[in-house]
Amino acid sequence: AEQVTFYEAVGGEETFRRLVHRFYQGVADDSVLRPLYPEEDLGPAEERLLLFLIQYWGGPNTYSRQRGHPRLRMRHAPFVIGQAEHDAWLRHMRDAVDELALPEQLEKMLWDYLVMAARSMVNAPSL
Ligand code: HEM
Repeated sequence: AEQVTFYEAVGGEETFRRLVHRFYQGVADDSVLRPLYPEEDLGPAEERLLLFLIQYWGGPNTYSRQRGHPRLRMRHAPFVIGQAEHDAWLRHMRDAVDELALPEQLEKMLWDYLVMAARSMVNAPSL
């Protein structure tokens, strides 16, 4: 039987592009998050997040072909991620998820994953 991936169910690449684009619009104007990003141009970071999420949800594995094993916690080690960074990251993701207007069950799967993943990226204690 045909297995429909989450990636396909939500509309494929176009949906993930909308998600990360909206998210990075939020990051661009965020005084907590923007300083963390080393590059002037957020475009390449947007593309890395896009390819990671596409791969995670069952789309093409371009991310790992370009970047290798995700090892996301390790890749975030250079950045101080405490409660404020965690909260800001999730707030922009919430806005971006809302704008997709996905069916409730798919939206919940995506959101629950993002909440779990954001928590796992925290690497600095709250003061
Ligand atoms: C990269 C911040 C959570 C996925 C980055 C970068 C920063 C950052 C500053 C470097 C930008 C770049 O050059 O790519 C944060 C903060 C988070 C967070 C403050 C708050 C919790 C997450 C979560 C995910 C994620 C939850 C996955 C669901 C990625 C990916 C990259 C990345 C895939 C690119 C890794 C690479 O291939 O180099 N993040 N991040 N991040 N982040 Fe996050």
